[in-house]
Amino acid sequence: MAGAIPGERVIVSFYLQPLRVFRLFLGAGPFFPRNAVAVLLFGDVNAVISARRWWLPARRCRTQKEEFRKEMGSMQSEKVETAKESSGAPILVTGGAGFIGSNFVLEWLASGKGPVVNLDKLTYAGNPENLASVEKNPAYTFVHGDICDAALVKRLFEEHRPRAIVHFAAESHVDRSILGPETFLRTNIDGTFTLLQAARSYFATLEGEARDGFRFLHVSTDEVYGTLEPEDPAFHEETPYAPNSPYAASKASSDHLVRAWIHTYGLPAMITNCSNNYGPYQFPEKLIPLMIANARKGKPLPVYGDGQQVRDWLYVVDHCRALAAVLERGRVGETYNVGGGNQRSNLQVVTTLCELLDELSPDSPVRPHKQLITYVADRPGHDRRYAIDARKLEGELGWKAQESFETGLRKTVEWYLANTAWVESVTSGAYQHWVAQNYDSRETAGAGSRETADAVARETTAGGAR
Ligand code: NAD
Ligand code: DAU
Repeated sequence: MAGAIPGERVIVSFYLQPLRVFRLFLGAGPFFPRNAVAVLLFGDVNAVISARRWWLPARRCRTQKEEFRKEMGSMQSEKVETAKESSGAPILVTGGAGFIGSNFVLEWLASGKGPVVNLDKLTYAGNPENLASVEKNPAYTFVHGDICDAALVKRLFEEHRPRAIVHFAAESHVDRSILGPETFLRTNIDGTFTLLQAARSYFATLEGEARDGFRFLHVSTDEVYGTLEPEDPAFHEETPYAPNSPYAASKASSDHLVRAWIHTYGLPAMITNCSNNYGPYQFPEKLIPLMIANARKGKPLPVYGDGQQVRDWLYVVDHCRALAAVLERGRVGETYNVGGGNQRSNLQVVTTLCELLDELSPDSPVRPHKQLITYVADRPGHDRRYAIDARKLEGELGWKAQESFETGLRKTVEWYLANTAWVESVTSGAYQHWVAQNYDSRETAGAGSRETADAVARETTAGGAR
C-alpha cells in the first residue's frame, strides 16, 4: 500500500520546477514519441529510466503541491494543469494481484513507466504477497475492491485521474467455470460493463493531451475463438468468435462490450487475445504450477483425457511486454493477438516438466517423476487445440517473445522450487476443497473415459465452485 508522502518532498518538488517544465515537453504526445525524444536527448534508455525514477517522487506530490501553491497564492492556468495531470498520472490496473496482473505491475514499476493504482477484490486467485516487493513503493497504490462496485470505480477515476486502464480482473479458470459459472458472468461481463461505463464518463471530462492519450486496454484470451483441428491455421484477429466454455463465453461477451463501447461511444479502447501463459506467481490450479506442486509432493499428475490437447504457451513476462507495447503504441479500436508460437500437447508439457524436475531436484524420492502421470476423465467440452498468429503484433509494434518454451519453462520450475513458502501459503484450506471438487469425481480413468467425464459434468448442477 502506498504510504504518505513525506513533507520534504514538497520542497524538493518546488526546486524541481524547471526540470518538470522540461519534462512536460517530453510528455507531449503519446507515450512512445516521448520515450523516443528522451532517448535521443539522453542517448541511453537506462538513463531515461533512472531520470524518470528520480522525477517520480515529485509526481506523487501533486496533491500536496497544489495545496502548497494555493497557500502561496500562485495560480496557474487550467491548460498547464491538465497537461501536468496527464504526464504524471497513474495507470489503473484491475486484477493486479493475480498471476499476469502482478507480473505486469512488477515489470511496469521496475521499468519506471510511472505510478500504478491496483484495484483487486483478492479472490482466491489474488494474492497481495505477489506484490510485497513494491508494497512500500510510493508509485504503487493498492485498493481492495470489486470491479462490479460502480461507486468505487467512479471514485477511483475521479481521485486518481488515470491516463489508462489495464483490465486484467476476471474469473480465469475454465474448470471452475464448468462447476460454477455464475461468478464468471458477474465479474467478467458485469464487471467489464461497470468499468466501461466509468471509463466512458471519465473520458468525457478529459481535454487536450489527457484526452488524446487516454486508453482502455482489455486483456482477453484466445479461448474466445473456440477450438482448432490439427490442420487449421492459427487464430488471427479476424477469426470468428466461437467460445465453448462458460469462461470463454464470458470473456467473449466482455470483448463484444468493449468493441461496442469503441464503436458507439468512441472510447479509445484496445483488446488483446492471448494464449496460455506460464511463469512465476501462477496459482497452482492451472496445468503447469499444478503439475509442479503435485510432483514435489509425490502426488499423481492428472492428465485430462488422452493428453493430446494442444496449447500455445507464452512466458508471462513476454505477455506483459506485449501489453505495454499495445498500451504505448497500439492503434485505438484494434485487436492484437498475443502468442509465443510454442504449440505443445499437454502430455509433452507434463513430460518436459517431469524431466526438468528430475534434473533440478536430484534428491527427490519420486524420480523419475514421469511415473506419477495419471490419465483422468476429460474436461467436459474440452477444446482440442489453440494456436495464435501474432504477426500483427510483431509487424506493427515490433514485439517478439524473448523466451523460448525451454528457457521459460526452466525459469518457471526454478522459481517454484525456490518459492516453496509461496506455494504452501496458496495451497492450504480452500485450495484443498477445490482439488477435492475438481479431481475426486474424476477418478483414475482410461484415456478419455466418457463415464467419468459425465460424472464431472453432473457436478455442474450442484453449482458453486468454491
Ligand atoms: P488470475 O485468476 O490469476 O487473477 C485474476 C485477478 O483478478 C485476481 O487477483 C483476482 O483477485 C482479481 N479479481 C477477480 N474478480 C475480481 C473482481 N470482481 N473485482 C476485482 N478483482 C477481481 O488471472 P490471470 O491468469 O492473471 O489472468 C488475468 C487476465 O488475463 C484475465 O482477464 C484472463 O482472462 C486473461 N488471460 C489469461 C491467460 C492465462 O493463461 N492465464 C491467457 C490469456 C488471457
Ligand atoms: O488459452 C488461454 C487460457 O489459458 C486463459 O484464458 C485461461 O485463463 C487459462 O486458465 C488457460 O486456460 P486452459 O484451460 O487452457 O488452462 P489450464 O491450465 O486449466 O489447462 C491447460 C490444459 O491442460 C488444458 O488442455 C486442460 C489440461 N489440464 C489442466 C489441468 C488443470 C489437464 O490435463 N490436467 C489438469 O489437471
